[in-house]
Amino acid sequence: MDVRAEFDLPIDRVWLNASHQGPLPTQAAAAVAEMVRWKQQPHHLMAPGAFNEVPDRLRSVLTRLLSVSADELVLANSSSYGLHLVANGLDFRPGDEVIVARNDFPSDVLPWTRLRHKGVVTKQLQPHRQVLTPAEIAPEITPRTRVVCLTWVHSLSGRMIDLDGIGQLCLDNDALFVVNGSQGVGGIPINPGDHPIDVLTSVGFKYLCGPYGTGFCWLSPRALDRVTTTKLYWLNSLSADDLAAEELDLDSIEAPDSARRHDVFGTANFFNFAAFATSADLVTRTGIERIHAHNLDLSERLVSGIDRRRYEVQDRGDPKNSSAVLFLRPLGRSLEDAARELADARVDVARRRGMIRVAPHFYNRPDEIDWAIAAFNGA
Ligand SMILES: Cc1ncc(COP(=O)(O)O)c(C=O)c1O
Repeated sequence: MDVRAEFDLPIDRVWLNASHQGPLPTQAAAAVAEMVRWKQQPHHLMAPGAFNEVPDRLRSVLTRLLSVSADELVLANSSSYGLHLVANGLDFRPGDEVIVARNDFPSDVLPWTRLRHKGVVTKQLQPHRQVLTPAEIAPEITPRTRVVCLTWVHSLSGRMIDLDGIGQLCLDNDALFVVNGSQGVGGIPINPGDHPIDVLTSVGFKYLCGPYGTGFCWLSPRALDRVTTTKLYWLNSLSADDLAAEELDLDSIEAPDSARRHDVFGTANFFNFAAFATSADLVTRTGIERIHAHNLDLSERLVSGIDRRRYEVQDRGDPKNSSAVLFLRPLGRSLEDAARELADARVDVARRRGMIRVAPHFYNRPDEIDWAIAAFNGA
């Protein structure tokens, strides 16, 4: 993988924590700098179309990344944005049900539990092996199930759900399948239209290497039809240039007939979205298939180098449907001691659920994995 030169990572440490934050590529940092200049010298913002250019560019990069149409995409500031937009936009009745995983990331559970005031029941199912399977969900789906909401790549195990199996169950039961792709999009190929899923929401700051405060949400035609909009935002229907007209007939303004009617306010978020578009473009141009293969190679290299007397490597499930994220349990010493050893060796990883989480991405090189192996093995 020849992208390392696109990043300004320190040479004296190893960043193996994409599941927390992806580093901003140098070109994206330059895009922020350019936008800061626009704000320092605001006449740049006056250029015709300036307010549309940034979100249009971002939307067009995301359409290429996901092979979807621009009209199916919502620009967002998080993955929670898309989850709440669906939770708040569906016409829930008392007794309606939502299925989630009890051990999922909080973002996937909280938008639904807060609907208890409407009488919505959130069924929190405990997976047998970290992620729910179609067989575990099937007996729990009822005619009252409106939504199944799950993380694609589980943040706390790296395991992946069976998108097609669970999606088909949802289709058969007329429930929306809402998928949080935050731990996968940018690292693992996904074209949401190729699967029976209705909503794909994601942050932009992990495997897409965008700034914090970025994200998107893709809506299937079925979801777009069911999720009502709670706003009529002027920049969704007008451009800054329209304000030049002598009079504006605001009564005639309607929300756009596409997913963009759900865009986050401040859609021309210059600092964040210009950089997000640039980083997502780098990921897309590099090729997600290549990135995924590279990341899996790196994690295999790490797994085969680890001294099993020092760490127990957690099973990642089906190798054909596997993320590159690894979980390692220290043996014979505390997590704190293990984390300290890694920090001393300047290997940046995360601590999750009593284990060390290792999350390589396309900027990592094999020699960095060898560096990490030496640190894990106490060499
Ligand atoms: C699966 C998952 N969803 C969401 C988030 C956070 O995003 P948000 O702030 O959009 O909830 C994370 C990690 O930070 C995550 O791992």
